[in-house]
Amino acid sequence: MAKGQNVSLSVIKRLPRYHRYLGELLKNSITRISSRELAELMNLTASQIRQDLNCFGGFGQQGYGYNVSALYSEIGGILGLEKHLTTILIGAGNLGRTIATHLEFETMGFKLVGAFDSNYQNIPPVRGLKVQSPDNLEKFCNENSPSIAILCIPKEGAKYISDRLIECGVKGFWNFSHFEFGINRSDIVVENVHLADSMMTLCYRVNELETEMELKSLE
Ligand code: NAI
Repeated sequence: MAKGQNVSLSVIKRLPRYHRYLGELLKNSITRISSRELAELMNLTASQIRQDLNCFGGFGQQGYGYNVSALYSEIGGILGLEKHLTTILIGAGNLGRTIATHLEFETMGFKLVGAFDSNYQNIPPVRGLKVQSPDNLEKFCNENSPSIAILCIPKEGAKYISDRLIECGVKGFWNFSHFEFGINRSDIVVENVHLADSMMTLCYRVNELETEMELKSLE
């Protein structure tokens, strides 16, 4: 098996976190780090880090550790960030505008090339892009071949739009719409995002912590 093939999704999901931490190290002019130091920083174990990176060929040197800049580039390469996948935004309301305005698309490996909203006439440009009517989607996709769509529209309209986008060749969906699709399809990939799920997990953990503390105070 070639390195990097058949890597588990849980390893892939950790790569952006490695990339983020290494990027921060670089910003702080740290050029070299041991797996033990990186593990401490990331609250992982050194063996976990070695195991993860070994899936792609290792990158560390015995007695030296990791060259931060090289590892940052390698992980960026594995994630495909240098390809700057062309991306469009569907729904330029509160959420869509926030995402488009605040995310560092280029560093993350994306290039926002278009924004669409059914209320396009009343919406100012997003990240320098004029917001267009969804009626233009097919023509735009034909000319620009976007790979990714960020769906920031209500659930109700999402099926119709996503069907059209799939037909236009869009392969990846960053889906905030709460409409679940793409299950059992091998021609597209969908990352469903539900911020409230994270909040509810936090709620559970806070309740658990408070119960634990209450029990301790009774001991
Ligand atoms: P919003 O009302 O500010 O913006 C929605 C925008 O989508 C509006 O500008 C509207 O004109 C446009 N739109 C509606 N249907 C459309 C369609 N079929 N085609 C193109 N544009 C369309 O709402 P907000 O706050 O930006 O939220 C957007 C959606 O994202 C909501 O449905 C909300 O439930 C969901 N949401 C999801 C979150 C998550 O964690 N997954 C978090 C927050 C919101």
